[in-house]
Amino acid sequence: MKATQFLTASALSCFAAASAIGRSEIETVYNANLESWRRATPQAPNGYAPGKVDCPSTRPSIRVASSLSSQETSWLEKRRNNTIDPLKDLLGRLNISGFDAGKYIDDNSKNASALPNIAIAFSGGGYRAMMNGAGGLAAFDNRTPNSTGTGHIGGLLQAATYVAGLSGGGWLVGSIFTNNFTTVQSIIDEGDGGTIWQIGQSIFEGPKKGSIQLLSTVDYYTNLLDVVDDKQDAGYDVSLTDYWGRALSFQLVNASDGGPAYTFSSIQDDDGFKNGNTPMPILVTDERAPGEVAISLNTTNLEFNPWELGSFDPTLYGFAPLRYLGSNFSGGSLPDNSDCVSGFDNVGFVMGTSSSLFNQLILNLNTTTGVPDLVKEALAKILTALGNGNDDIADYSPNPFFGFHNDTNPSAQTERLTLVDGGEDLQNIPLNPLIQPNRAVDVIFAVDTSADTTTDNGGAGWPNGTSLVATYERSTNATMQNGTAFPAIPDQNTFVNLGLNTRPTFFGCNASNLTGSAPLIVYLPNAPYVYHSNISTFQMDINNTERNTIIQNGYDVVTQGNGTEDSQWPTCVGCAILSRSFDRNSQDVPDVCKQCFDRYCWNGTVASNTPAPYEPNYKLTEVKIASGVGHFLPNVLCAALVAGVSAFLMM
Ligand SMILES: *[C@@H]1O[C@H](CO)[C@@H](O)[C@H](O)[C@H]1NC(C)=O
Ligand SMILES: *[C@@H]1O[C@H](CO)[C@@H](O)[C@H](O)[C@H]1NC(C)=O
Ligand SMILES: *[C@@H]1O[C@H](CO)[C@@H](O)[C@H](O)[C@H]1NC(C)=O
Ligand SMILES: *[C@@H]1O[C@H](CO)[C@@H](O)[C@H](O)[C@H]1NC(C)=O
Ligand SMILES: *[C@@H]1O[C@H](CO)[C@@H](O)[C@H](O)[C@H]1NC(C)=O
Ligand SMILES: *[C@@H]1O[C@H](CO)[C@@H](O)[C@H](O)[C@H]1NC(C)=O
Ligand SMILES: *[C@@H]1O[C@H](CO)[C@@H](O)[C@H](O)[C@H]1NC(C)=O
Ligand SMILES: *[C@@H]1O[C@H](CO)[C@@H](O)[C@H](O)[C@H]1NC(C)=O
Ligand SMILES: *[C@@H]1O[C@H](CO)[C@@H](O)[C@H](O)[C@H]1NC(C)=O
Ligand SMILES: *[C@@H]1O[C@H](CO)[C@@H](O)[C@H](O)[C@H]1NC(C)=O
Ligand SMILES: *[C@@H]1O[C@H](CO)[C@@H](O)[C@H](O)[C@H]1NC(C)=O
Ligand SMILES: *[C@@H]1O[C@H](CO)[C@@H](O)[C@H](O)[C@H]1NC(C)=O
Repeated sequence: MKATQFLTASALSCFAAASAIGRSEIETVYNANLESWRRATPQAPNGYAPGKVDCPSTRPSIRVASSLSSQETSWLEKRRNNTIDPLKDLLGRLNISGFDAGKYIDDNSKNASALPNIAIAFSGGGYRAMMNGAGGLAAFDNRTPNSTGTGHIGGLLQAATYVAGLSGGGWLVGSIFTNNFTTVQSIIDEGDGGTIWQIGQSIFEGPKKGSIQLLSTVDYYTNLLDVVDDKQDAGYDVSLTDYWGRALSFQLVNASDGGPAYTFSSIQDDDGFKNGNTPMPILVTDERAPGEVAISLNTTNLEFNPWELGSFDPTLYGFAPLRYLGSNFSGGSLPDNSDCVSGFDNVGFVMGTSSSLFNQLILNLNTTTGVPDLVKEALAKILTALGNGNDDIADYSPNPFFGFHNDTNPSAQTERLTLVDGGEDLQNIPLNPLIQPNRAVDVIFAVDTSADTTTDNGGAGWPNGTSLVATYERSTNATMQNGTAFPAIPDQNTFVNLGLNTRPTFFGCNASNLTGSAPLIVYLPNAPYVYHSNISTFQMDINNTERNTIIQNGYDVVTQGNGTEDSQWPTCVGCAILSRSFDRNSQDVPDVCKQCFDRYCWNGTVASNTPAPYEPNYKLTEVKIASGVGHFLPNVLCAALVAGVSAFLMM
């Protein structure tokens, strides 16, 4: 981030380290700030344990996936209207010469659904993906300081309809939406005393003692155990994902003890979301069908959105009301003698489900010192109950889809629905919900932080298009695609040989070369602009200096260094947004957009020979973090900052 942004963070840590007086002042201010970004709400009836609630006047049921939910349909009316002004503002700023964006939007403002329909997708990849994605999100967000200046693309988030995340990308999306759609910048600004994203303090240690959480490591583990026990005592099966989700919550949910009663479905009641002032968050998870061990590409993809859990895939082809998960549905309805249950869809459990690959880490707890024996015993019991090869499942019993679509639904005859990490089928970018014809998305900004390249290929840990290849392959399977279409995607060798994985690339520019209507994909691969952000997926502690530098690099990934690599890039972003509208309205494509499409559209060329090792160099000047800039400032600077920070805190 810019100097001032860094200074804020560094000043706070220097403050905290150097002065006891400063510390208490800071905490007072933080606690006051907390009040102003209260999150999704603690709607669960009984903490983490699901519990009986009064049934709504219409009994909850499972619906067929032939349309969008009625809730989404009416929300869209508000949201699409609310994207008009941000879109007009954004396109006006992006400098598309030869195109009167204002007039175009005004002409279409009576029918907002004819306007560009934008989605954003954040891939999985652990904290690396969460941080790189956060940089992208900050760049898209017009609330980030300077994001609406020349070379920037802030406002894309405000103009977007959908924001999807998966696994590490799901932590980003889940955390932002659970915390009242806060900004990446305000999380960074909290510095080392912040309450969330303090990932220098790993999930093995638990939250820093002295922050609002006030738990010692042992208390933290005891808390994990007790809270999950509550769910079990209430009669629900638990899996490692419950522990993993609880642990994650301490880092992602700004509430004491990680908010055991906060539900994902409560987002539907958040004012910002409800009134269409934010996009709609979606998290993706895969089904592990009974008897299935490895997750194949034809596995069912499910989504969590604020109202529902379900799938448009031809296998399941149904949606359950998220708020009433835990109720004993059968054959698509809730029998008259069966209670309505709520509180199953805990936000941490939902984020943990999408990232259940990390359950592996929870397994390591049995050899971690400091972990109470009771915790180790509880984990061992779960493993025994589930059997080998099922460490990574999240247990959704009772299966809401029991007896539903018996002919096609692989889990129709099991009381247990097992869900796993959304990236396990190799579709590591959450595109499935965004390519559904019912959602009519025009363009997807796809931030890919996958670790595809291996040491065999040279530098490890960078994307090489594997996720797009998987989604493309799936879309060519007549059985699985079920009405979706996806642009043609070349093989990974081509990605590397042509550099499609080191800079933004557009896929599907020519709408007439598609097998059905499909969005344009703006592929935004993680690449080293100022930092080698290809850290391991399993690096579990990242100090705030490194965290902020990966975020900064992510900002550069989606803005190409705020236009330093190509000053026309912001214009090209505008052209990508408008591309499908140009087609829809048979409008002449402005020359400047033709230039953009020449430059950024994959034109069908393949180069499938084995590439040279992939060892990308810095595109811009490396930001060095080992010196500890932003952390250990010399005392003299520290003193100077105390005054400055005090002034900042007053604002
Ligand atoms: C781009 O802008 C962001 C936000 O102001 C900043 O953090 C980043 O360092 C800038 N990148 C370049 C290359 O100037
Ligand atoms: C915004 O940009 C201005 C002008 O380049 C710069 O002085 C200022 O520090 C930047 N602010 C932030 C928060 O990056
Ligand atoms: C959520 O954020 C909005 C916009 O910043 C703010 O107006 C609102 O008061 C916040 N809601 C809560 C419950 O804090
Ligand atoms: C959206 O805008 C249109 C045109 O201005 C208006 O007719 C419609 O009522 C608006 N819808 C909502 C939900 O505000
Ligand atoms: C297409 O999907 C079906 C259903 O999942 C599967 O049985 C079949 O093997 C797939 N076909 C190919 C060519 O992968
Ligand atoms: C997926 O395809 C495999 C073979 O490729 C097949 O064995 C399996 O039954 C298919 N699964 C589904 C859900 O169709
Ligand atoms: C999608 O799958 C469902 C369930 O198998 C089927 O009823 C529907 O016709 C399919 N839709 C398309 C467009 O193929
Ligand atoms: C820890 O759990 C693993 C996986 O279940 C098991 O193989 C191992 O024996 C356990 N180690 C200890 C020290 O309990
Ligand atoms: C679907 O399966 C369930 C569970 O076996 C069964 O009770 C139900 O009758 C079946 N439904 C249909 C329509 O066959
Ligand atoms: C791309 O990534 C896949 C998945 O990790 C890997 O198997 C393949 O070797 C990689 N290819 C290149 C050219 O990087
Ligand atoms: C056009 O479609 C064909 C058939 O799917 C595909 O092979 C080709 O790569 C596509 N061209 C582009 C530029 O997407
Ligand atoms: C933060 O982590 C980076 C990377 O591991 C390391 O180089 C740096 O020295 C650390 N900074 C501090 C202040 O610990």
